[in-house]
Amino acid sequence: MDDLLRFLRIPSISADPAFAGEVRKAADFVRSWLERAGLENAQLIDSQEAGAHPIVYADWTHAPGQPTLLLYGHYDVQPPDPIEEWISPPFEPSIRNGNIYARGAADDKGQLFMLMESVAESLRKNGGHLPINVKFLIEGEEESGGRHIDRFVMENAPALSADAAVICDTAMFAPEIPSITTGLRGIVYGEIAVEGAAHDLHSGDYGGAAPNALEAVAQIVSSLKSREGKILIPGFYDRVQPPSAAEIDAWSRLPFDPEQFRENEVGSPALTGELGFDVLTRIWARPTLEVHGIRGGYTGEGAKTVIPATASAKISLRLVPDQIPNEIATQIASAIAAACPKGVTARFNLMHSAPPCLIDPNNPFLTKAAEAMEHVFGKSTAYIRCGGSIPIVSLFKQKLGIPSVLLGFGLPDDQIHAPNEKLCISNYLRGIASLIEYYTLLSNPR
Ligand code: BES
Ligand code: ZN
Repeated sequence: MDDLLRFLRIPSISADPAFAGEVRKAADFVRSWLERAGLENAQLIDSQEAGAHPIVYADWTHAPGQPTLLLYGHYDVQPPDPIEEWISPPFEPSIRNGNIYARGAADDKGQLFMLMESVAESLRKNGGHLPINVKFLIEGEEESGGRHIDRFVMENAPALSADAAVICDTAMFAPEIPSITTGLRGIVYGEIAVEGAAHDLHSGDYGGAAPNALEAVAQIVSSLKSREGKILIPGFYDRVQPPSAAEIDAWSRLPFDPEQFRENEVGSPALTGELGFDVLTRIWARPTLEVHGIRGGYTGEGAKTVIPATASAKISLRLVPDQIPNEIATQIASAIAAACPKGVTARFNLMHSAPPCLIDPNNPFLTKAAEAMEHVFGKSTAYIRCGGSIPIVSLFKQKLGIPSVLLGFGLPDDQIHAPNEKLCISNYLRGIASLIEYYTLLSNPR
């Protein structure tokens, strides 16, 4: 626990270049921790490119004839803003009511530590041996869409060969319901950049004749989605596949109350989204478009009468199977061009993307994980999807030919990416126990 708290104190914010040194510290921490735990070949892998964060690799492969697991996690975290809303500071972990509060507590340092600790503990109890083979692959760019790891995986596929990847970076459906995630949404993230006049203008002198870049951003953004939540980009829904009959049936039996979800998790007067789809379908199996930030004009104290010459908006689209990120990026660029009003230019600058992905729930590596969690939690495992993205999962499938077992121990109210992120300590302990049990169940009798 002390080690985890030390790890959580490192502000490894990958999106902000000012924290690059801290990101590296977190990588070093993981590498040396794994080495001390008895893992071999523990190393940092640096990309030559500017702005890249190191990958941590380590393995233990002395169980011939036993399966090999590729254990993936990320040591980077989201920015902690808005800082003033944290009850205790984001990088000073605080334990309250059985939870650890800190940025990264659940996403993903705490959950990555479950993988690390499960292997360390398994080595300790088995006299320096493991029932299976493991290869750790841990990155520091997951939260910021940096994709240096993709190249590394593609160029080192033989060295990374494994039977399955194991990832603890998702959440349980509800407290006490062990869960395996079998679907992730993909993403296309980019910026709409608008330019109008040569420079900012006095709104009295020029208002009525000069284009307003900020207004243009608002017009473009609002043209992309209807008030009923339908995305208005031509061709956008063409490849969308509905969830399978088995999924629809399983989801209908999950204990889910949209009203409680609205009240306890969202906290808004009403839920929004596409007409004609229930909430779980909307967040798991339908594509979306969100605006994350709009920049431009005057937002400081007091009033200023200005016509902004430039403005921009950060947006992302979450994709579902079988949508293709590049195709969607092209469609959105055309939709932006088509919606661009007179007097300004608008461009879509793609920042990062990842494909959506489904994982076969009948794969024995998943069913064994479900069994391990059932032994620890004493409850049957739910198969769910997740609306978020873990970009590496589709690459593991395509380039390494392996399924990813997404067994997550976060909770729906862990506030990941938000102030007061937390991790439930009993889930932390049961997560470690489940993983140790999983390794045992996977090992073939000799
Ligand atoms: N751990 C999350 C994925 C996740 C989100 C799992 C919600 C369960 C519930 C992951 O670290 C994450 O946030 N990924 C980013 C990826 C993006 C920046 C490419 C995401 O989904 O926004
Ligand atoms: Zn994560």
